[in-house]
Amino acid sequence: MLDMHCHILSGIDDGARDLKESVKMAKIAYKDGIKHIIATPHFCRSVMCEPDVQYQKIEELRHALRREGIEITITPGNEVRLESSEFVYVHEAAGDYLYLDPNKRFILLEQRWSHYNEQSEEICRWFLSRGTTPIMAHPERHDFFREQPELLVRLIDLGVWTQVTVDSLLGKNGAEAEQFAKMLIRRGQVHVLATDAHSVKRKPNLSHGIRIMQQLAGEEQVQALLTRMEIIRQSALGE
Ligand SMILES: [Fe+2]
Repeated sequence: MLDMHCHILSGIDDGARDLKESVKMAKIAYKDGIKHIIATPHFCRSVMCEPDVQYQKIEELRHALRREGIEITITPGNEVRLESSEFVYVHEAAGDYLYLDPNKRFILLEQRWSHYNEQSEEICRWFLSRGTTPIMAHPERHDFFREQPELLVRLIDLGVWTQVTVDSLLGKNGAEAEQFAKMLIRRGQVHVLATDAHSVKRKPNLSHGIRIMQQLAGEEQVQALLTRMEIIRQSALGE
């Protein structure tokens, strides 16, 4: 399985505290059946890690995982916050943040926590016109999406994918997020599941999410989800 949203790298954002914790998170993920993690540190006004620094961190982690015999593939990415369209375009042009794959077929986008970015549709159209599918991180955790689900439906209609976080399905992000996440699954509006793991406590737990999805939506939807995740995985490997 692929985990395409994970703050496994240390010393960049609010994810793993140090390399030791990164390795522990990888161990938990491996036991859960995850074989590939796309590292997605935040890219926002307060955290802008240069790609070269991330590549170096990934090399360090790969080395540590080899030493421990943990066979997980780690590839780079970012969780890019929709601060403003200018923020997204200027930093894209400068190559300051990373897509989920070298082919730039997928990008992980996050809404601000304070309020919905009204330029979201314009920004998503811009990515789509360049052959990139934007993936909206954890819509169930944002109150504006819960209050106005049509905002999300409009993005989905454009071709945007949604990523629900397993912790939300487990009720760890509150009852409202849990309910909304489950409703999105029942409506067939969830394209991928991911862990958004930040530590050994906020940990990788993908298989649990898949089981919940199976109960809520059935095997066919789970297979479609796994197929989409496999497409992202292959693209992350440059295939
Ligand atoms: Fe995240």
